[in-house]
Amino acid sequence: MKAVVLTQTGGVENFEVQEIPTPGLKDNEVLIQSKAISINPVDTWVRSNPAYITPILKLKPGEGPIILGWDIAGIVTEVGKSVTKFKKGDAVFGMINFTGHGKAYAEYVVAPESQLALKPENVSFEDAAAATLTALTALLALVNYAQVKKDDKVLIHSAAGGVGHYAVQIAKHAGAHVIGTSSAANKDFVLSLGADEHIDYAAQRFEDVVQDADIVLDGMPTPDHVNRSLDAVKPGGTLVPIVVLLDHNLKLAQKARTKKVFMHRLGVEAATEQDIETVATLLASGAIRSHVSRTFAFPDVAGAHKAVETGHTRGKVLVTF
Ligand SMILES: NC(=O)c1ccc[n+]([C@@H]2O[C@H](COP(=O)([O-])OP(=O)(O)OC[C@H]3O[C@@H](n4cnc5c(N)ncnc54)[C@H](OP(=O)(O)O)[C@@H]3O)[C@@H](O)[C@H]2O)c1
Repeated sequence: MKAVVLTQTGGVENFEVQEIPTPGLKDNEVLIQSKAISINPVDTWVRSNPAYITPILKLKPGEGPIILGWDIAGIVTEVGKSVTKFKKGDAVFGMINFTGHGKAYAEYVVAPESQLALKPENVSFEDAAAATLTALTALLALVNYAQVKKDDKVLIHSAAGGVGHYAVQIAKHAGAHVIGTSSAANKDFVLSLGADEHIDYAAQRFEDVVQDADIVLDGMPTPDHVNRSLDAVKPGGTLVPIVVLLDHNLKLAQKARTKKVFMHRLGVEAATEQDIETVATLLASGAIRSHVSRTFAFPDVAGAHKAVETGHTRGKVLVTF
């Protein structure tokens, strides 16, 4: 099979299409012929920065070649001996081995059955592949951690992006009042997802507009942004940062404690089988829809990485087969 191998960390020129053996199966795994994969910012970080290889890919000594990618949708072509959930021919989707060596940039991918759900029949392979790592992040942040409920005021940063566009829809589905931030160019898109209000981050300081959010989802990469989000959340509310590591940010922790804000950094690696099943149910019912703004034909993973690295993805970027 063809796979896009990362020969060394660095630029997209380090991707190389190689012919490698189709992977073998463990008893609890299925082999999937890929139809679509989605690309995330974390893919680009791991590609370009050796510091991410160990914590994210968790390679065993001597393990290779490195094949990035975690988000897939495709058709089951083989099942392991103990697999009960799927059979040959089933259309499935999921986030594979994150954190770990997902190996999704390939024509065939192996995955434990517990990390997959059946693709709803009314959802395309593209829209299912999109609704994996980022949809799970939005679900975990808002439902599992923040326990969003009717009439909550929810502030969602980067509302036009991969995580944000699902987060807006999940919060609306729960009956919340949703405020989304993005550039002016994405205002109509964010409102079309169901947001009740929009804040153009370049024109207004969001904390000047909102000081009483029940929940804030912060996908921006600086402690200063999280600090400002603490000003936007009300005492007793919940702040879920998904990028900034909180371990050494004692000032942020102190501020959250003083304000009695529950602040917890989310890692999507906590997602369970139940969570991907919930995403499948939300997709099937139309409660959430994927917005795919750009698709690249396999093996043009490099083009997809460059698109994601602009930092201005609307919805999701995919590679299709
Ligand atoms: N901890 C975890 O498990 C986890 C899971 C998923 C994602 N993440 C991280 O969360 C971040 C977001 O992920 P993603 O997949 O949603 O990324 P993404 O799709 O690349 O996000 C792009 C979006 O960010 C918006 N944006 C850029 N600057 C902004 C600003 N100052 N204020 C508000 N919005 C802004 C852009 O809107 P405009 O074009 O309108 O500017 C664009 O729509 C990434 O850093 C990702 O690595 C972490």
